[in-house]
Amino acid sequence: MDLRHCVIPAAGLGTRFLPATKAVPKELLPVLDRPVIQWAVEEAVAAGATDIVLVLAEGKEAIANHLLPDPPLERLLEERGKRRELEAVRHAGHLANVTVVYQAEPNGLGDAVLCAADVVGERPFMCMLPDDLSVGAKPALTQLWEAHERHGRGPIIALMRVPREDISRYGCADVDLTEGRDHHVRGLVEKPKPADAKSDLAVMGRYVLTPDVFDALRATPPGALGEVQLTDGIARLIGSRDIWGVEFEGRLLDVGTPAGWLQTNLQLASDDGEFSPAVHAAPVREAV
Ligand code: G1P
Repeated sequence: MDLRHCVIPAAGLGTRFLPATKAVPKELLPVLDRPVIQWAVEEAVAAGATDIVLVLAEGKEAIANHLLPDPPLERLLEERGKRRELEAVRHAGHLANVTVVYQAEPNGLGDAVLCAADVVGERPFMCMLPDDLSVGAKPALTQLWEAHERHGRGPIIALMRVPREDISRYGCADVDLTEGRDHHVRGLVEKPKPADAKSDLAVMGRYVLTPDVFDALRATPPGALGEVQLTDGIARLIGSRDIWGVEFEGRLLDVGTPAGWLQTNLQLASDDGEFSPAVHAAPVREAV
């Protein structure tokens, strides 16, 4: 199979989730029985990723450790006959090849993605923000890669309609042609004011990008929030190539805020054979 990279920026400080994220990166908070990063990598692998490029900040190495094999732990579990745990540990450590790159300063998502340039090289690649989990029959990244092949192997952005008043939290797409759920993008603005937004189509943290985005990012000045924005880098490609946005099917579940994380856990647990009894009958132990 072809080498296919997925870049996962995970260098953020997790400020929206403090104090939980004071010592533990938000990407390692558990959702049901697995940390967020594993859900993200499993989605990428399902979409055909062979190689994960983790963009980390110093001190967040535990995220990578979760994705690496752990022979001493595997040996111990084997000796103790803990088959189920052994399988789970092996699975997490062998999902994909993992390369770590470091973002020196928190200079924004565009700068984080640029850190992956040397590893990715000259191939199209996937990129996903692990703040949301994609659930549904077909994961969002898979739908994006299919759109990439459908639209001449160009850049693809995941889009979702959001209430107008919420658009300032997202990148916003201005589109000029619609084919089913695919929209041809003629403009992209990061975090516009609702009154200035050209649409209610928000960029949703899943991308297929082409390697020319790296030069575009090198030329991109800091934008919204004083940071180098990925949205601005992609916008620089407009005119030189076609960019499509896909209103993917299925849902994204927030795991980047305490309230979203809690809702996501409850929702996934209710749908899960193993965990649903725990949601409906909390195992409260009371002293008698
Ligand atoms: C990032 C992107 C933005 C996107 C959002 C949700 O913003 O810059 O374009 O709409 O993720 O995926 P952030 O949430 O990091 O501020």
